[in-house]
Amino acid sequence: MLGVCGFMYALVLIFLIIAVIRARRATGPEMSRDHGLSKTLGLWVALIVVGLMGLTATSYLIDRQIAQAANNPDVKLQITAHQWWWDVEYLDADPSQHFHTANEIHVPVNSSVHVTLMADDVIHSFWVPSLHGKRDLIPGRPGSIDLRPERVGVYRGQCAEFCGAQHAKMALEIVVEDAATFAAWKTKQLETAPQPRDEHAARGLDVFMSSACTLCHNIAGTSASATLGPDLTHLASRRMLAAGALPNDRTHLIQWLSDPQSIKPGNHMPSLGLTADALDPLASYLETLR
Ligand code: CUA
Repeated sequence: MLGVCGFMYALVLIFLIIAVIRARRATGPEMSRDHGLSKTLGLWVALIVVGLMGLTATSYLIDRQIAQAANNPDVKLQITAHQWWWDVEYLDADPSQHFHTANEIHVPVNSSVHVTLMADDVIHSFWVPSLHGKRDLIPGRPGSIDLRPERVGVYRGQCAEFCGAQHAKMALEIVVEDAATFAAWKTKQLETAPQPRDEHAARGLDVFMSSACTLCHNIAGTSASATLGPDLTHLASRRMLAAGALPNDRTHLIQWLSDPQSIKPGNHMPSLGLTADALDPLASYLETLR
């Protein structure tokens, strides 16, 4: 578009300037002694027709490419927006290749990614400015978006539709990596959670299983299988906590576990009232979920 239209625009300007200069120089009353005028006009029409046909053909070919990429995506995801976090499900024809993660999406570079967008409470909006425009997630009306990230890196995204008290703290990250790194990440995500290796972490698992955590969270490989909150099977592998609200390190994890309401007031994780005795092993256990 830019090439063809730029060329045409430049031609028009050149001829306009020539016409102005000739008009200024012309002295006599009879200015149109141009016998080649109809021939030139014919040439112009031909040039415009060729240009338009070129644009039409290119547009057709590119639309086909886009449609084909959308039909056979390399990665298929389903994102479900919740107040105030993102559930990410990796889809596959083979059910054993399905897994969930939250708030952090990994995709291989130069691959086509088809994302189905849903919401289960209110309207949210999926927005990763460096990769795509905004797209609403509307309860009961699945939408979709196709991405093709071309550069390795971490792309910050943000919910872009006011969705309640913690709308501002509803961020996500898309990690674009080379194919091998992505494959390794995916293999890891498909694994169940590792068994605690030491007594401290084992006590943390007990704390998890005997508190309200299991009412909302899933940890594959344990009996915790609720889906109200983010899947924690590989929590420690993620860069951020609480949908981008905190960096994922021990200090912030303990801070979050001890009082999530002070960090994201109104979020659906209640303060569990855990004592330091319980918090420390719980954090140690969660840190093993790589
Ligand atoms: Cu979700 Cu704003």
